Amino acid sequence: MQKIAVVTGASSGIGAEIARGLARKGWRCVLVARREDRLRALADETGGEIEVCDVGDREAVDATAARVLARHPLIHLLVNNAGIPGRANFLNADPAAIEDVIRVNYLGSVWCLRAFLPGLEAAAPADVVNIVSVAGDVAFPPSGPYSASKHAQLAFSRSIAAQLRPRRIRVHTVKPGFIETEGFPQSWLPRPMQRLVVGPEAVAAHVLASLEHGRGETSVPRYYGIAGRLQAFLPNTFARVLGFSRRAA
Ligand SMILES: NC(=O)c1ccc[n+]([C@@H]2O[C@H](COP(=O)([O-])OP(=O)(O)OC[C@H]3O[C@@H](n4cnc5c(N)ncnc54)[C@H](OP(=O)(O)O)[C@@H]3O)[C@@H](O)[C@H]2O)c1
Repeated sequence: MQKIAVVTGASSGIGAEIARGLARKGWRCVLVARREDRLRALADETGGEIEVCDVGDREAVDATAARVLARHPLIHLLVNNAGIPGRANFLNADPAAIEDVIRVNYLGSVWCLRAFLPGLEAAAPADVVNIVSVAGDVAFPPSGPYSASKHAQLAFSRSIAAQLRPRRIRVHTVKPGFIETEGFPQSWLPRPMQRLVVGPEAVAAHVLASLEHGRGETSVPRYYGIAGRLQAFLPNTFARVLGFSRRAA
């Protein structure tokens, strides 16, 4: 029997690469996002299915999950990857943009997990991958609202990891660093930091390995884990350094 994966944010970047990687391993992917043309092209390429849905719209997510579960009562994997950038700080960001990052990046993962849970429980052992961010560990002032959305998504991911374990659903919390994608171009980074940027294929390979080896919470590339530990152990020093940085203004 072909295993079924639901991948949100599959129309570009990390989500598209995860879907390609899963398809190469024989999975059938239900590709979820808002841009239908992009989803259709990837579905043709990978032999998948598409569902056009705004993950931040709870009713739309419930309706989408009902359609998918009618076709596939067993869901073996949910990848909560859909997300938007928030390149503005708390002091001058448009209020609607602050609401949007929370609605999509955090609540989108919550609504998708709740809507697809019956399928995951029916298929158990099953897996959930939450694509969070190093910004879930580290608060970066120029994109404070985005960091806050990823902090919330990280707390969600850690909470459900503990809660779903007895139900034989493993949660993989993946925290990427700087990844070059359409929504997150990294050209703004100073030249010395450009060497930290990797492509979305690296995240997809990491996710597949995490599924294979049953890993819990990880950073990709692995060295970004240091940033989270520094923020946790030296929060005041961290705030002072970021306060001096011109980028933090
Ligand atoms: N790139 C990085 O540096 C980086 C680092 C850490 C974490 N991340 C996280 O990785 C995830 C994927 O980002 P990416 O870098 O691959 O960016 P991307 O290429 O812009 O992809 C974002 C995906 O999310 C979808 N999406 C956005 N809003 C949506 C909504 N309301 N409903 C459904 N789908 C929606 C987009 O599709 P549509 O526009 O078609 O809906 C697209 O498929 C995000 O959660 C992001 O926060 C990225």
